[in-house]
Amino acid sequence: MNAIVAVDKNWGIGRDGELLVHIPGDMKFFREKTTGKNIIIGRKTLESFPDGRPLPDRHNIVLTSNDRYAIDGCTVCCGVEALMRLLGKFADDSIFVCGGESVYRLLLPYVDTIWITKIDKEFEADKHFPNLDKDEDFEAVWESEPMEHKGTGYRFLKYERKQNEDE
Ligand SMILES: NC(=O)c1ccc[n+]([C@@H]2O[C@H](COP(=O)([O-])OP(=O)(O)OC[C@H]3O[C@@H](n4cnc5c(N)ncnc54)[C@H](OP(=O)(O)O)[C@@H]3O)[C@@H](O)[C@H]2O)c1
Repeated sequence: MNAIVAVDKNWGIGRDGELLVHIPGDMKFFREKTTGKNIIIGRKTLESFPDGRPLPDRHNIVLTSNDRYAIDGCTVCCGVEALMRLLGKFADDSIFVCGGESVYRLLLPYVDTIWITKIDKEFEADKHFPNLDKDEDFEAVWESEPMEHKGTGYRFLKYERKQNEDE
């Protein structure tokens, strides 16, 4: 399965329940990658979306421990077992882990491809993604040209889980 995330220079991803910065080019990249796909989000990330509504044109799967949680337009999964049962119905490459921190950390062991927007700035973040440049299991396999929005530089990278040499 895939993950997709925007990180700052310190792998920060959010603060006070919100994104660190809004970059239209990053939003477009996210939309292009995830439209028509199955996206997995934590309950807090769902509630950070406009009006707490699921993202359109995608199958929104929300992870929560609250078995009474219900929200129109979302499939709710109470725990990892229920999530994995559901994900078994979908093609692996149609699944995108979309955060936040707790959900990225929980599902990273199942992820093979990660689309990262690296924002060339430092923010005061209270949520982080694991530093993939220090993770021996992953390597960057593609990088876009650098881009800029209102003085903030950013670029897209694709990381892949390294193949086991015995395979
Ligand atoms: N930069 C990016 O690309 C990006 C992307 C997404 C989010 N973010 C940011 O990340 C931050 C939110 O991250 P977060 O870690 O605080 O919250 P989160 O991962 O979005 O949601 C946490 C919630 O998910 C549920 N959950 C997590 N693990 C679970 C498990 N094993 N079983 C059942 N439920 C589980 C729990 O919901 P209940 O409490 O209901 O049980 C938990 O409180 C925000 O600042 C957001 O803007 C950034």
